[in-house]
Amino acid sequence: MELFTKTLFLCLAFALTNGAPAPPPDAAVDDPSLPDRCDGSEFDAITPDEKGNTFFFKGSHLWKGFHGPAQLSNESFKELDDIHNIGHVDAAFRMHNAENPDDHDHIYFFLDDKVFRYYDHALEEGYPKEIQQDFPGVPSHLDAAVECPKGECMADSVLFFKGQDVHVYDIATKTVKTKTWSHLPVCTSALRWLEHYYCFHGHNFTKFHPVSGMVSDAYPKDARRYFMKCPNFGHGGNYSVLKCSNVKIDAITTDDAGKSYFFAGLIYMRLDTSRDGLHAFPITRSWKEVTSGVDAVFSYTDKMYLIKGDQVYIYKAAAHYTLIEGYPKTLKEELGIEGHVDAAFVCPDAHAVHLIQGGIIRAVDLTATPRAVTRTMPMSLSNIDAAMCSAEGIHVFKGPTYYQYQSAMILAVSRIAPEPHNVTKAMMGCEE
Ligand SMILES: *[C@@H]1O[C@H](CO)[C@@H](O)[C@H](O)[C@H]1NC(C)=O
Ligand SMILES: *[C@@H]1O[C@H](CO)[C@@H](O)[C@H](O)[C@H]1NC(C)=O
Ligand SMILES: *[C@@H]1O[C@H](CO)[C@@H](O)[C@H](O)[C@H]1NC(C)=O
Ligand SMILES: *[C@@H]1O[C@H](CO)[C@@H](O)[C@H](O)[C@H]1NC(C)=O
Repeated sequence: MELFTKTLFLCLAFALTNGAPAPPPDAAVDDPSLPDRCDGSEFDAITPDEKGNTFFFKGSHLWKGFHGPAQLSNESFKELDDIHNIGHVDAAFRMHNAENPDDHDHIYFFLDDKVFRYYDHALEEGYPKEIQQDFPGVPSHLDAAVECPKGECMADSVLFFKGQDVHVYDIATKTVKTKTWSHLPVCTSALRWLEHYYCFHGHNFTKFHPVSGMVSDAYPKDARRYFMKCPNFGHGGNYSVLKCSNVKIDAITTDDAGKSYFFAGLIYMRLDTSRDGLHAFPITRSWKEVTSGVDAVFSYTDKMYLIKGDQVYIYKAAAHYTLIEGYPKTLKEELGIEGHVDAAFVCPDAHAVHLIQGGIIRAVDLTATPRAVTRTMPMSLSNIDAAMCSAEGIHVFKGPTYYQYQSAMILAVSRIAPEPHNVTKAMMGCEE
């Protein structure tokens, strides 16, 4: 499972912790000379870096991530200062071009008719250049720019915004198609985040479709409620950074599309979003009917099963999760078992779910109707919180540690638990 080897980066973090340090506020109470993004700032540019940190730019300052006070831009990007005549930027984006590692994940800044390219926060040789040298056909004095990978756009592309025009730059063919999206406000910055596209204007933002420009739902919304933590602007809960040694997850799973999730209390986090950073959301944001947390979660075919108490909620996974009609049902009715479920997992290409209840593992054939337990095995590890199965075997989580097993059989027959590993920041976005 790749997510355990990648370096992931924390943006926001967990909710519901007691005694964990709260992230720094966005209002720069300590230093009135610094700009305060809760004032209703309009950003010049927004871009993630190669590690998944999102930077918000305003004049000669920036904010790193979704929390915290402003700092001088040249602390993070040395040449972004008055001396180099780049005291501010017009637009910025991170390149998505996986076929071309020399360009992939590099960050581009635009000012007037120049482009500056950074990697690992260092300006690259040969820069600045004229914009047209790198991006033929793209105009000067841009308002905003954002990456658009193939799959979301027709090809790996960059969307450049100027006024109401969008210049769609195809990275491979170096060609530009210009569209006019007069229904969108003029974007002063744009961000792709967790596969969605946002146009920022004033202190508001509008989510748009990267190909059609279409705006669905009620926009604009106030960025201070969603992309930062501002006093008097609710964020849907009390979020604070959790220490890795305090981690206690309720459930963890990977769906067929390769998206990994963990659940803790009333929040969940996607774990496969290293390019965008990790971010916690209320569970109800994706699984609206699951209002009091989960005990266990597993994925099978294109569905996600969330278990809470004696209820099983089955959601169909597509662009969004939708509860299948007739659910929730009871555990007895759906899976032929009763009692509290600690953890559940389905191994890749398998058709049985393993449900852990106290010191017992029960296998249930998911192809049988009605479903019934096909096998019951005792296990030596008890009081576990969550489990998942991937090509790398089974990970069983217990508080801030996890254990690895090759198979369900080995998990069942092992008399002695293998060496525990600590949950790390790279895995869960917690603080070490
Ligand atoms: C950063 O920029 C500020 C404002 O332009 C300037 O006063 C300062 O000397 C710069 N710092 C460095 C390390 O270049
Ligand atoms: C922000 O959006 C609200 C509506 O949601 C609107 O009333 C307000 O004028 C907008 N402000 C700016 C600066 O765009
Ligand atoms: C956040 O926590 C404070 C103090 O712990 C509490 O008074 C407040 O109601 C909480 N807010 C939410 C939205 O849960
Ligand atoms: C795991 O964490 C505990 C305390 O949090 C620490 O004592 C122990 O050395 C850690 N183990 C490893 C293998 O890092």
